[in-house]
Amino acid sequence: MSPSAGGLVVFLLSVQVIQSQDGWRVNYHQTDVCAAKGSEVVIRCGYTHPPGIRPSDIKDRFWFTKEKDGEPVDLRTDSEYSGRVEYRCFSKDCYLTITDVRESDSAEYKFTLMTNKPGEKYTGSPGVTLSVTGLQVQVRRSDSTWLELTCHSSCVLSGRPEYVWYKNEKYIKTGSSLPVSSGSTDRYSCYLIGSHGHGGPAVYGPQRLSVSASPSAEMLEGDSVNLTCSADANPAANYTWYKEHEDSPRASGQIFTITDFTAEHSGNYYCEAQNEMGRSNSTLRLIPSSGKWSTTTTVFASISAVLLLIIIIIILAVLRLYIR
Ligand SMILES: *[C@@H]1O[C@H](CO)[C@@H](O)[C@H](O)[C@H]1NC(C)=O
Ligand SMILES: *[C@@H]1O[C@H](CO)[C@@H](O)[C@H](O)[C@H]1NC(C)=O
Ligand SMILES: *[C@@H]1O[C@H](CO)[C@@H](O)[C@H](O)[C@H]1NC(C)=O
Repeated sequence: MSPSAGGLVVFLLSVQVIQSQDGWRVNYHQTDVCAAKGSEVVIRCGYTHPPGIRPSDIKDRFWFTKEKDGEPVDLRTDSEYSGRVEYRCFSKDCYLTITDVRESDSAEYKFTLMTNKPGEKYTGSPGVTLSVTGLQVQVRRSDSTWLELTCHSSCVLSGRPEYVWYKNEKYIKTGSSLPVSSGSTDRYSCYLIGSHGHGGPAVYGPQRLSVSASPSAEMLEGDSVNLTCSADANPAANYTWYKEHEDSPRASGQIFTITDFTAEHSGNYYCEAQNEMGRSNSTLRLIPSSGKWSTTTTVFASISAVLLLIIIIIILAVLRLYIR
């Protein structure tokens, strides 16, 4: 065989291999699917095979996202999907249903077919990209007293998503937005209808404010103290510190440090926590520590008094000796 003839044989062989794959085809209904956490997703495909293949030649057909040792892993055997996937095929139309979708289900899903012939398989690639989104309540100020809450997802949900609104876990209404008054401490959340209790995290104004002084609110001259403010709020609150009878803030941030304490520092401090939903404040009183001073002074004074007494007694004793 001449070198060129050898090349031709290899060429023909490779074409044959490609042709045997060529009769295979997987068509996905959609290439991208966006789903809300907790909802049910259906991914659909249809396939064709070469004319020589009979339905009984197809040994297995399944969906996968991962490969192990170069082999696709059937979703039904993946523990992360256990009890949540279902396959259905009607002739050459196949459906994958995933229930209670999680954010970790976001992946590319592919359909694969295997025949009785060892090693003969066909995978429809690229597959379908699933994005699972949580819901987020966004807060917009309408005017000085009203806020508008809207429900958001990070990808565009298919169909026409319908939302329901809950206030303190009680149903209030259906709709894409909800007007609420500013400054309320109620908790609002939105759910996608049909998503089995997976709502976005509730939004609410700052509550349960606590202010503490470390190491102590009783201060000695020259001491340092950290005042810490914390509130339960969603979205997270920002913090501002005021001293009583003062209009401008002393500091911002959760921790306010006072160094080199003097008598002018004593008094009431307010911490104000604020987020888009409202604001709240709490007070802490810093006082100069008289207690600590008086104990040391008392001890010092007692020791001095005892010493003085001893000296007087000695002097008296010496005087008596002289007088005799
Ligand atoms: C205050 O907090 C800072 C860091 O948060 C720490 O380094 C410092 O020692 C604290 N000061 C006092 C007086 O507790
Ligand atoms: C704190 O948050 C509120 C509402 O989100 C905002 O209007 C304000 O400017 C913030 N203040 C600071 C100091 O970041
Ligand atoms: C603190 O909150 C109370 C009650 O919400 C309010 O009446 C008061 O004016 C606030 N004080 C400051 C200093 O913001």
